[in-house]
Amino acid sequence: MSGEHHDHSKTYWAMAGILAVVTAVEVAILYIAIPDSLMLTGLYVLAAFKFGLVVAYFMHLKYDNKLLTGIFFSGFTIALGTMVAMVALINYQPTKIAISVKDTKQLQAMTQGNPENGPAVFSAKGCAACHKISSLAGAVGAVGPALDGLSQRPADKLAGKDVTAYIRESIENPNAYVVEGFPAGLMPANLRQSMSDTEYNDLVAYLAKL
Ligand code: HEC
Repeated sequence: MSGEHHDHSKTYWAMAGILAVVTAVEVAILYIAIPDSLMLTGLYVLAAFKFGLVVAYFMHLKYDNKLLTGIFFSGFTIALGTMVAMVALINYQPTKIAISVKDTKQLQAMTQGNPENGPAVFSAKGCAACHKISSLAGAVGAVGPALDGLSQRPADKLAGKDVTAYIRESIENPNAYVVEGFPAGLMPANLRQSMSDTEYNDLVAYLAKL
């Protein structure tokens, strides 16, 4: 037994000062423009700090038996963990995530197709009757230009576009750019509407690789 007398009043004044400063920082955090996650983390850390300070000094945990402190904090940690998990669960909205995954997939389908399915679409939609592709059996048409080496064309033969944009334009709006030596209006303008988005993207991906 030491019988030592703690003069706590100085400590308490110092703490009151610290708590006031921390609270001012918390209020400031609410007003500055930082991402929500950063703000929440900051507020949590400061709140935890204040809590620790109060518990340690006002509740005398600092002067208590270490075992009691341990018991108090393990319970507290579990409670805090549960609360954080609950808040996270409430904020987690699976529907939101599902929608964005779907959007990404749709976006991908809109921009890239599977070139391996292209030949089937090319034949099924009648392109083969007018266009020749040497590597594709049955594509022997001679009404329109042969599509061999489409991707190797110099830019001026693609109306200044990249090959995918050129192919899309050639199909969606054949008369926007008429290939030299061929008559305008011969290639049907409604071919794009005759196929699904997937078929269309597969077809374009295939032609862009020729
Ligand atoms: C009735 C005949 C006909 C059919 C069917 C046809 N085209 Fe064409 N196509 C043409 C003609 C003629 C041209 C050249 C004149 C022009 O640019 O419009 C052409 C041009 C093109 C071009 C530009 C070629 C180049 O050398 O720059 C592409 C690409 C093309 N067609 C793709 C297709 C695809 C894909 C299909 C099937 C979905 C198709 N065409 C169906 C007649 C046809």
